[in-house]
Amino acid sequence: MPSHRIAVIPGDGIGTEVVPPAQRLLDAAGERYGFSFEWTELDWSCEYYARTGRMMPADGLETLREFDQIFLGAVGYPGVPDHVSLWGLLIPIRRTFRQYVNLRPVTLLPGIDSPLRDVPAGGIDFLVVRENNEGEYSEVGGRLYRGTDQELAVQETLFTRAGVERVMRYSFGLAASRGGRLASATKSNGIIHTMPFWDEIFRELAPEYAEVETSEYHIDALAGLFVLDPGRFDVVVASNLFGDILTDLGAAIIGSIGIAPSANLNPERDHPSMFEPVHGSAPDIAGTGRANPLGQVWAGAMMLEHLGHTDAARAVLTTMGKVLGETGVRTPDLGGTASTAEVEQELLRVFATLE
Ligand code: NAI
Ligand code: MG
Repeated sequence: MPSHRIAVIPGDGIGTEVVPPAQRLLDAAGERYGFSFEWTELDWSCEYYARTGRMMPADGLETLREFDQIFLGAVGYPGVPDHVSLWGLLIPIRRTFRQYVNLRPVTLLPGIDSPLRDVPAGGIDFLVVRENNEGEYSEVGGRLYRGTDQELAVQETLFTRAGVERVMRYSFGLAASRGGRLASATKSNGIIHTMPFWDEIFRELAPEYAEVETSEYHIDALAGLFVLDPGRFDVVVASNLFGDILTDLGAAIIGSIGIAPSANLNPERDHPSMFEPVHGSAPDIAGTGRANPLGQVWAGAMMLEHLGHTDAARAVLTTMGKVLGETGVRTPDLGGTASTAEVEQELLRVFATLE
């Protein structure tokens, strides 16, 4: 029976509340489909930072390297600046392990009303591929003349040909495997060096994927279309910052940020990939027992898919769909009154009754 060694980083706030329910559902999936998980919990978090001055130990990346995959909740807590939690843990993991694809499904699940009027059931179903290693999130830059009236700040966007090409090739391949349409997010009218470079590479690659129909949108217009006509999209490829913003909008139009999942993929499988919900540690509701575990569960389904357990992944998604579509059990972010624990109970119950 295959066993997968998974590093689990629950993190902070609701991360610690939604990870265990997702693990229990994944264990149930393993029992049913003939595999198992060997979970190793790591307490790396803002609390760890408060104790040690670091988000993870100095050899943290070496520790992670030994695992098949990483399952993460969320990090971030009031008192620790957000750039510390991001740059001290998530960004080093994404970069060191060449997780250059950040795959984020934007799918309206059964039983959920989109906040958009007139979206029919099943009317939103696309994938955003966010470039996850370079782009606008760069360390190149600095600040000068602090505290004077000449004070300045510079931060450079950095695109490499290799980096843009690999994320686009992944996106073309993904589009070819589903609806055959790929949209690129650009802003080459205003950002006149990096974005034309992005566009050129997109156009160079397109002929190699003749079966994929391509389109390009400026990011501002694209954001509008996510609201006005989300049904038109199949796969959207975007730079690091554009993809980050688009996917929070994507999470909003599918009903709640509490449902949306995210996979940080190393497509070559030379290194572990990392699976996490889109949402953060939600300090405003942490400790109330009302966090929606579905984003974490869906991230778990993406991990199953990446591990090659396609049937198990599908069963988890079917279970989520049934719980949402056929029972009234849902957390307050989706208009319900259920607790995290009640949603977990319902997921496990429905999963056990699947044909
Ligand atoms: P957030 O996603 O934590 O919360 C935004 C809003 O959505 C809040 O009102 C929250 O209650 C609600 N929400 C989020 N997830 C939910 C869930 N599962 N169920 C029900 N409601 C949910 O984003 P925010 O407030 O901007 O950030 C809070 C902290 O999380 C910050 O420290 C931030 O840096 C960190 N963060 C970490 C991320 C990560 O670990 N990948 C991603 C985003 C934020
Ligand atoms: Mg974000």
